Amino acid sequence: MEINLAGLLPEALLIDLPEIDAQHEEIFRRIEALKETCFGSGPVSFEEFESLLEYLKYHFSTEERVAGEAGAGFVDHARVHRENLQALGKAFREVRDGARDVHSFLRYAEYWFERHITEEDKPFADSVRKCRLRSSSRPESIASL
Ligand SMILES: [Fe+2]
Repeated sequence: MEINLAGLLPEALLIDLPEIDAQHEEIFRRIEALKETCFGSGPVSFEEFESLLEYLKYHFSTEERVAGEAGAGFVDHARVHRENLQALGKAFREVRDGARDVHSFLRYAEYWFERHITEEDKPFADSVRKCRLRSSSRPESIASL
């Protein structure tokens, strides 16, 4: 039986930046798929966990690009991203070393992910929207200087 993992992202976690929301949906889907795999009877592949961490790097680079395009400051958000990747990478190394089980890692990743959206990305999206609004309300002659 195929499990439908489409549309998993709760509406309360949407930030109204479609590209970023789509990536959040994908991260949510990957975490859910890993949970399904880990609760199943088959062997757990660490490659899928590594793939999730790689996708998170890609996601953070997208957020950095979106901020740059809007002219929004990103220094603090970039620091938070580095800390996030370090913390998740450490948790995954603990799984590989046998110090943490996969379920613990997934609970941690899921909790981290929701906190990332509500505490980090919602303010980030607000600042991107403000910058976009500011630049779109500028007269053409001033904006092109
Ligand atoms: Fe994000």
